[in-house]
Amino acid sequence: MVKRNIVITGGAGFIGSHVVRLFVNKYPEYNIINLDKLTYAGNLANLKDVEDKPNYKFVRMDICDFEAFYKLMQEERIDGIIHLAAESHVDRSIKDPFTFAQTNVMGTLALLQAAKLYWESLPEKYEGKRFYHISTDEVYGALVMNHPGGIEPPFTTAASSGGHHLAYGDDFFYETTKYNPHSPYSASKASSDHFVRAYHDTYGMPTIVTNCSNNYGPYQFPEKLIPLFINNIRHRKPLPVYGRGENVRDWLFVEDHARAIDLIFHNGKIAETYNIGGFNEWKNIDIIKVVINTVDRLLGRKEDEDMDLITYVTDRLGHDARYAIDSTKLQKELGWEPSLQFEEGIEKTVRWYLDNQGWMDQVTSGEYQRYYEGMYSK
Ligand code: NAD
Ligand code: DAU
Repeated sequence: MVKRNIVITGGAGFIGSHVVRLFVNKYPEYNIINLDKLTYAGNLANLKDVEDKPNYKFVRMDICDFEAFYKLMQEERIDGIIHLAAESHVDRSIKDPFTFAQTNVMGTLALLQAAKLYWESLPEKYEGKRFYHISTDEVYGALVMNHPGGIEPPFTTAASSGGHHLAYGDDFFYETTKYNPHSPYSASKASSDHFVRAYHDTYGMPTIVTNCSNNYGPYQFPEKLIPLFINNIRHRKPLPVYGRGENVRDWLFVEDHARAIDLIFHNGKIAETYNIGGFNEWKNIDIIKVVINTVDRLLGRKEDEDMDLITYVTDRLGHDARYAIDSTKLQKELGWEPSLQFEEGIEKTVRWYLDNQGWMDQVTSGEYQRYYEGMYSK
């Protein structure tokens, strides 16, 4: 059994908590350190079920704190870093780009530099080490939507082929697609991706970058489309649809992303990029209708009862028209496939939010929100 000491940054957030849970349960021989600043998006309640496991430890730290992270690397003899910590919400980046540059760019750079200094100080240097950076498909910019009605897709996966699955354009994001970010969020993620690759090319650090499409599932902070809308439907509040609801996103169940991260961390090739996505494109308005129908059915309400909550509002500035990932490389080279059909994933997700109203009430409570607003205004 190989023993490893792994830091997962952003482990108290949405995707990070699923990655921490997977690693802690699957690899009892590893030491898993969840490093998180606990911003408004980080919530230790997301990890209640693993917090007492002997191979799990939580460390509250800001990734921008180079000194503290360097010390942690030495003390814990870290040989693997899976980096998810970030400011992740596009709308917040439009209002407050500085925080995004600070965390996503400078924070990533602090981790890289601390890892470099520590690993280069060891006799074996970079042997057996890994810096795995989790990025987004948004760095590629926006794809053209030249089939607004949708066409049969050129690819399917076990997960996408069963249910709704259309492509809304001829092109996809490939690992070779040129970066063209539009929002301050995606610009900051693109910059951090470049730094990670630069640490491989300049210093020989064993890095990997993955770019994933939109995730959905349990524990997502309700500022993002799906959990926000589930909660609003439950409470019969308006559903603010940006523009005409025609923008297309490619949706992946979060546990499938976590499985891909596990596979790539262990078997991915150094210096490579892998795109992760489910070939599962949806127009926002269509996904919203599925969410309304699912919530209404599970709550025993009449069909279509809550459709009139749909409220068209001013569009997001610079709103990217379409994202669609081609994940053929990951499927062919490492044998990954999404496991869930979208309808199944949405049903599971809606059920989780309805069954975990306590979690939702906590993160949407005035006290929780005020605490973080206070932190932000400092
Ligand atoms: P999230 O906002 O739910 O969680 C982010 C986590 O990072 C939180 O726990 C937060 O406390 C922590 N964090 C923020 N700033 C920090 C700092 N300075 N120091 C330490 N911790 C800090 O985000 P998410 O949706 O889980 O996304 C995780 C990663 O995956 C991000 O890097 C994001 O860019 C990427 N990603 C997200 C999606 C998606 O659909 N959500 C898709 C592709 C890629
Ligand atoms: O593509 C991956 C990205 O997906 C990640 O890198 C980001 O971290 C993650 O937040 C997500 O970005 P999006 O901007 O696509 O996600 P969001 O849930 O904010 O919005 C999804 C779509 O729904 C988008 O087209 C905007 C629209 N929307 C969103 C909200 C919150 C609305 O119409 N109304 C809303 O209230």
